Amino acid sequence: MLNSNMYDKDGPARKTGRREVKSAVLIEKQVNLETLNTFGLPARAAFLVRVTDEDDVRAIIADRMIGSLPRFILGGGSNVVFTGDLQALVLKVEVPGLDLLETRPDAWIVQAGAGESWHGLVEWTLARDLPGLENLALIPGTVGAAPVQNIGAYGLELADRFESLDIVELATGRTRTLFREDCRFGYRDSIFKRDLAGTCLITRVRLRLPRPWQPVLDYPDLARLAAESVAPLTPIGIFDRICSVRRSKLPDPAEIGSAGSFFKNPVISAAQFRALAEREPGIVHFSLPDGDYKLAAGWLIEACGWKGRNMGGAGVHDRQALVLVNRGQARGREVMALAAAIQESVFNRFGVLLEPEPIVLGGTDDLLSPSR
Ligand code: EPU
Repeated sequence: MLNSNMYDKDGPARKTGRREVKSAVLIEKQVNLETLNTFGLPARAAFLVRVTDEDDVRAIIADRMIGSLPRFILGGGSNVVFTGDLQALVLKVEVPGLDLLETRPDAWIVQAGAGESWHGLVEWTLARDLPGLENLALIPGTVGAAPVQNIGAYGLELADRFESLDIVELATGRTRTLFREDCRFGYRDSIFKRDLAGTCLITRVRLRLPRPWQPVLDYPDLARLAAESVAPLTPIGIFDRICSVRRSKLPDPAEIGSAGSFFKNPVISAAQFRALAEREPGIVHFSLPDGDYKLAAGWLIEACGWKGRNMGGAGVHDRQALVLVNRGQARGREVMALAAAIQESVFNRFGVLLEPEPIVLGGTDDLLSPSR
């Protein structure tokens, strides 16, 4: 039970010049985060505010009690591991809205509030004959979290469909628009994990869906679908195939807690790859345009015998070794202990350090550091 309504959210509004600005927000205290993270890990937040627009952030900054607390921005909770309680203010992003902003000759521009479900957005676009996001179906999490780690799957990543986004600065309450070059997207990476980490909250994201629609079929399962099909492929046909591939490999979030892929696929140099491939001829790899090699972390983990194994309440998914799961009552520290044991054995056998994808909050000393 939430135990405090300190302010009335629609309560006192201050007149500043032309428009009204909220001067107060509803602050929830000692909030249970278990249902607010897809791993289902137990943790409490000292304070939590649900942010529905920029004015909520400005009201937080102006608040004497919570204005100076450390803050953590939470979207769908699908990319976090809570290892303890948070002595912080959690900003739960709930900015709503789905709109077709513009129809250009070469693209549709769609805008979504950061609090919308990512998969909900994919379905919304397809239902309106606005194709282009079908390869990114069923990715858990919110629209606002999507650019942070540049979500990607089945040959497409968010950066490929990105137009711009709006942020509100947490120190000043000022708003800004950032374009593709500003966001410095990389593989599961962006400026929001680096220079701007913890400094701003994404409120709205605009996506660019190219016209005419062209299917993205590079991924083997989709190339097979294209080869088998007699009729031309449709966006919905691709969407359906991706949903069924994901459901067959990944745990059902309604039944088993997880944060999707737990580790990034590591990238190594051509020289390191050649030496490794001599010792490990079966190693699954993909050559990159710059000459480096990307390895399949799931293969490395499976090769070390981890697939389907458990440690405490945490486990390795039995159909996709890259996904760590909550076997029921896992605590964040058990997930991290399992992650560290996997890192150690992959490092010992392959000399490759796996880097976790999720953000770890609440402290941990278990993981190997990249400097090793
Ligand atoms: N593999 C194994 N054993 C496993 C898992 C994978 O041998 O247990 C090998 C297979 O040979 C397969 C290769 O690894 O050919 C690649 O596996 P898969 O196609 O399942 O993709 P992935 O590299 O494991 C990445 C993303 C997923 C995304 C899929 C599909 C990362 C970290 N993960 O996984 O993203 O859905 O590709 O595009 O890049 C996520 O980030 O949460 C996520 C699920």
